[in-house]
Amino acid sequence: MALIVCFMGLSLIFSQIVSANFYTDIDMAYGTDHTQILENGQTLKLSLDQISGCRFQSKNEYLFGQINMKIRLVPGNSAGTVTAYYLSSDGSQHDEMDFEFLGNLSGDPYIVQTNVFSQCQGNREQRIYLWFDPIADFHTYSVLWNPQQILFSVDGIAVRVFKNNKDLGVAYPESQAMRIYGSLWDGDSWATRGGLVKIDWSKAPFVTYFRNLSMDGCLSTFPSAKDCATKSWWSEELSSTQKKQLTWVHKKYMVYDYCSDTVKFPNGPPAECTSNASF
Ligand SMILES: *[C@@H]1O[C@H](CO)[C@@H](O)[C@H](O)[C@H]1NC(C)=O
Ligand SMILES: *[C@@H]1O[C@H](CO)[C@@H](O)[C@H](O)[C@H]1NC(C)=O
Repeated sequence: MALIVCFMGLSLIFSQIVSANFYTDIDMAYGTDHTQILENGQTLKLSLDQISGCRFQSKNEYLFGQINMKIRLVPGNSAGTVTAYYLSSDGSQHDEMDFEFLGNLSGDPYIVQTNVFSQCQGNREQRIYLWFDPIADFHTYSVLWNPQQILFSVDGIAVRVFKNNKDLGVAYPESQAMRIYGSLWDGDSWATRGGLVKIDWSKAPFVTYFRNLSMDGCLSTFPSAKDCATKSWWSEELSSTQKKQLTWVHKKYMVYDYCSDTVKFPNGPPAECTSNASF
């Protein structure tokens, strides 16, 4: 009886798309006094000045999930600032998937950098420009993480896929739960034009807004993530529309791809590159 009740309680948690509230579903991890929760917990304001940046993290950990966040990036001269939104495991054999937004001088384009770490192996940066002005309004940045693939999307347009290429000997994040993080920090040693453009602190504080975080994830506290298998995103693979979107983004907006970096990889691209680019 106790087992049945417990099971039912958990399946309720599982069948729900969680619209997160910043008051109850996240903790401030760093620079709390540089954060502010607004609009009944729907919106979070992050600031950066010479004293501090800030970071938040989800209270729950997830093993697989579909996560959406609306972000309005730092306006004006944001050069050197990095707004980040990512999932990361704890512990030594690190898994991580990142969206990083690299600021720029007024009027110059932001770069969106994505990266995937599996079992500590990172070095998988891709960088794109956006097809809209990310400071003018909120846009949705999503990560779908299921057993087949990690898919990064912007406003529902697929911008990057990292497939499960275990059969090629490439580790895939699938055994460690992750928290969702967001942060705003000083990255001027590397972010803008390779670190040439520094933060203009006279323009501080730099401010970015996160809003309407939704997390449809498998809670790691449940014995098996397979109990998410009924969710529509669980078995998703690239659709023909998403393949077209990836082709479009890679052709028109990609400014850097680690797979083509012959300086970093003089002996040829990493094992996953061909498979991930076949769409
Ligand atoms: C900033 O603007 C310059 C000039 O348009 C561009 O080369 C660069 O890629 C932009 N983004 C970053 C993050 O440096
Ligand atoms: C954010 O979510 C709330 C309820 O969860 C909804 O009322 C509001 O319209 C959403 N805002 C946006 C910009 O999607």
